[in-house]
Amino acid sequence: MKSSTVIAGCMNWGQWGANFNTQQYLSQIKKSLEIGINTFDHADIYGHYTTEEEFGNALKLEPSLRDKMQIITKCGICMVTPNRPLHQIKSYNTSKTHILASVEKSLENFHTDYIDLLLIHRPDPLMNPHEIAEAFSVLKQSGKVRQFGVSNFTVSQFSVLHNIFPLTVNQVELSIIHTRPFYDGITDQCIDLNVVPQAWSPMGAGKIHLDAEDERSRRIISMANILGDKYNASFDQILIAWLLKHPSGIAPVLGTTKIERLQAALDSHSIELTNEEWHMLLRASNGFDVP
Ligand SMILES: NC(=O)c1ccc[n+]([C@@H]2O[C@H](COP(=O)([O-])OP(=O)(O)OC[C@H]3O[C@@H](n4cnc5c(N)ncnc54)[C@H](OP(=O)(O)O)[C@@H]3O)[C@@H](O)[C@H]2O)c1
Repeated sequence: MKSSTVIAGCMNWGQWGANFNTQQYLSQIKKSLEIGINTFDHADIYGHYTTEEEFGNALKLEPSLRDKMQIITKCGICMVTPNRPLHQIKSYNTSKTHILASVEKSLENFHTDYIDLLLIHRPDPLMNPHEIAEAFSVLKQSGKVRQFGVSNFTVSQFSVLHNIFPLTVNQVELSIIHTRPFYDGITDQCIDLNVVPQAWSPMGAGKIHLDAEDERSRRIISMANILGDKYNASFDQILIAWLLKHPSGIAPVLGTTKIERLQAALDSHSIELTNEEWHMLLRASNGFDVP
């Protein structure tokens, strides 16, 4: 099954946001699938280690949904929370033992026997790429994880692991207000290695909407609205189309809990901004022309 080009981020579905009950999780999953979004982004830590399980409780009600979707999850961050009483300090753990144990827990939470894509959540200063590759090999051979990637890795951190174990994704912060991956080599590397750059916070985590009075947000909203008039689209759709135009094949991981906003993001695929329009939005974000 191919992953949908727009991914539903589940970080805000539970305790860290909408606080969905099981029926609401189920409804959100089914409606997402109906509109053509088949990929759901999780992490062990979301909702202080509760969101995976809540999502899994919904899947348990209709187990046939599992085969219609791709589940992404992440591991490697250890949070301090009453749900993990042994954690004394927020830390990273990318040891083989931790990765294998985290995946076992995720499988149990989701009521499934495989994860479609496992990401190391953050680069860990103490990470040993050989040890991570060993863990990935065990998980691949057992069929417990199908594909592997990383998140927030620099180009060199990505290379060193990819050279030992093939990765398919680098999930990074990327939006009209966070354009660094276009300049620090991350999207170049994705093109070079045929790796998908997944964009987290593709709408700037809602900051553009919340800080609508801020000068930069005003410039972006105003430009996106002008283009929205031309393409008969909302300014949100223009900002997604702006990401989709990039040749690296960005897959936005949307954090919205509103189905209509997910649908709107899917519909952005039909908007083909011109080269100049793309640069008008970039200028609106930067506040100045390219050099
Ligand atoms: N790998 C990582 O390190 C990492 C880090 C952060 C997040 N993530 C992943 O990325 C996903 C998305 O992150 P995000 O939530 O920051 O993404 P986002 O899509 O940039 O922002 C979502 C937020 O913006 C709001 N929003 C969107 N459109 C809006 C509009 N038109 N008007 C007002 N508010 C609007 C949403 O509210 P509504 O719900 O009301 O629409 C929600 O609060 C997460 O769910 C998670 O899966 C990964």
